[in-house]
Amino acid sequence: MSKTTITVIPGDGIGPEVTQATLRVLDAAGADLEYETQAAGAAALAQFGKPLPDHVLESIRRNQVALKAPIETQVGKGFRSVNVQLRQELDLYANLRPNRSLPSIPSRYENVDLIVVRENTEGLYSGLEHVVIPGVVESLKIITEKGSTRIAKFAFEYARRHGRKRVTAVHKANIMKLSDGLFLECFRKVAQDYPDIQAEDKIIDNMCMQLVMRPEKSDVLVMENLYGDIVSDLCAGLVGGLGVVPGANIGVEASIFEAVHGTAPDIAGQDLANPLALIRSAIMMLFHLGKDEVAERIRRALRQVIVDQGVRTRDLGGEASTSGFTAAIVKSLESGV
Ligand code: NAI
Repeated sequence: MSKTTITVIPGDGIGPEVTQATLRVLDAAGADLEYETQAAGAAALAQFGKPLPDHVLESIRRNQVALKAPIETQVGKGFRSVNVQLRQELDLYANLRPNRSLPSIPSRYENVDLIVVRENTEGLYSGLEHVVIPGVVESLKIITEKGSTRIAKFAFEYARRHGRKRVTAVHKANIMKLSDGLFLECFRKVAQDYPDIQAEDKIIDNMCMQLVMRPEKSDVLVMENLYGDIVSDLCAGLVGGLGVVPGANIGVEASIFEAVHGTAPDIAGQDLANPLALIRSAIMMLFHLGKDEVAERIRRALRQVIVDQGVRTRDLGGEASTSGFTAAIVKSLESGV
């Protein structure tokens, strides 16, 4: 049987380190994947004059699955975010970010098991900003019935498939009565088709307070783009930080698996980055590819290394380097865990 080919984008900052670690783990687990490595971001700009060359998009369209490390986006200047472009060009409308308390991962909270479903293509990330007159700028928030309906459906379908009990729409429809109002209206309409799942809504500020006070009470949360971006990092902080939380950008024709974290320039190139978040994103990718057995094998190896052997990177209070942590997982896989 021919191998499955995936596109791999090693990205910037800690990206290449965590990518190398993840590919070592995939290979040691026998994932049987072929990698088509593509540059995007600053490296692509230097080489091809564009941060997101057409051949990168073509590679992802052809392979339908990509594993991507973070890409740097300059603040307030520079090229438009490659991440946002990828999500919009490939219509990767659902960003799925599971946040679970893990044994042996230090956190102030226990029993957190919540899923953030973020709308990934519209909202304030539409990129429509302009100067009205000097000193006044306008940034447009686009909310559509189509986008809101399909993300609500995605959240309820996910809840049903994974035995979840409740979906909460997170919004600010008390202030943004038209835009968030439409989002909420679509959510309520979709909820009627899922009587087996409890539907509720919460205003974003109250939701943030509740997440910090009682995160174990939340189940599946669905929200527009900006709220999802911010709430995702908040939720990562509930379960051990950005070094551990995986993610997936799901579309109809392609999906990109990537960690929630960014390029972490403060620790790049020092063998300090935690590759766990990208490895766990790769586990999500393996389930997506139907390679459940390999995914479970990697899960068992992670448990053996983190819980039984107590090997952890520095962000989790351990002493292991990126390469040392990876070597321990590879050893565990090679010993037939
Ligand atoms: P960041 O996530 O890169 O870093 C925030 C903090 O978390 C830093 O202290 C960093 O050292 C730590 N951290 C993050 N990942 C870690 C890991 N795997 N192991 C250990 N510690 C880790 O966020 P920041 O600094 O706001 O963004 C840096 C750059 O990344 C920006 O250019 C931003 O646009 C980009 N970015 C890209 C994303 C993507 O490609 N999907 C997502 C988020 C940010």
